[in-house]
Amino acid sequence: MSGGFALRVLTPADPADWPLWRDARLAALADAPYAFKARLADWSTGGEEQWRARFARADAVHVVAVAADGRPVGLAGGVPGDGVSELRSVWVGPRARGQGVGDRLLAAVEAWARLQGSAALRLAVLPGNTAAVALYRRHGYVEADAPEGPDGAAERVMAKRLTG
Ligand SMILES: CC(C)(COP(=O)(O)OP(=O)(O)OC[C@H]1O[C@@H](n2cnc3c(N)ncnc32)[C@H](O)[C@@H]1OP(=O)(O)O)[C@@H](O)C(=O)NCCC(=O)NCCS
Repeated sequence: MSGGFALRVLTPADPADWPLWRDARLAALADAPYAFKARLADWSTGGEEQWRARFARADAVHVVAVAADGRPVGLAGGVPGDGVSELRSVWVGPRARGQGVGDRLLAAVEAWARLQGSAALRLAVLPGNTAAVALYRRHGYVEADAPEGPDGAAERVMAKRLTG
């Protein structure tokens, strides 16, 4: 990727920000269906409303990496839980990989979680996603106990303590 990128923390109240998040999410699902439980096909069967509802949550954070030409090249989200926040929707576009975009996105969500007073950040990664696991390990995430999902899918849960 030439020209670098900028991080934008999105604001649900800004009408320009939902389309940017939507475009980034759709690009992520089209590029890396192996990495996400959501499916591109869900978009037309109720997915848009769900994504939009989550985007509208004032207590969540949505960060997009934007290339010089305005296109989204990466994204990550954070959702608060019961003292522990969740890192969600991490993606970096193929041409932007290996350039620190993932590092910046993770750092932005972590800074948000610390401001919330979260004790930890948790994430779920699907088996075999070695690039993502390498990124998370480098940022201090370690394996955590994973509750069995309703479909029995073995997700790998990783967590990072933010306090103590
Ligand atoms: C996982 C992902 C976010 C990493 O983004 P990134 O900004 O390239 O992150 P990094 O530069 O730190 O690279 C992370 C790992 O990806 C691999 N990687 C690095 N450059 C790469 C490139 N150009 N192409 C492919 N993989 C690369 C390396 O294994 C690296 O680990 P290392 O630091 O131990 O060498 C990105 O590959 C991605 O979006 N993948 C598809 C979606 C996905 O898996 N999301 C996570 C869902 S849990």
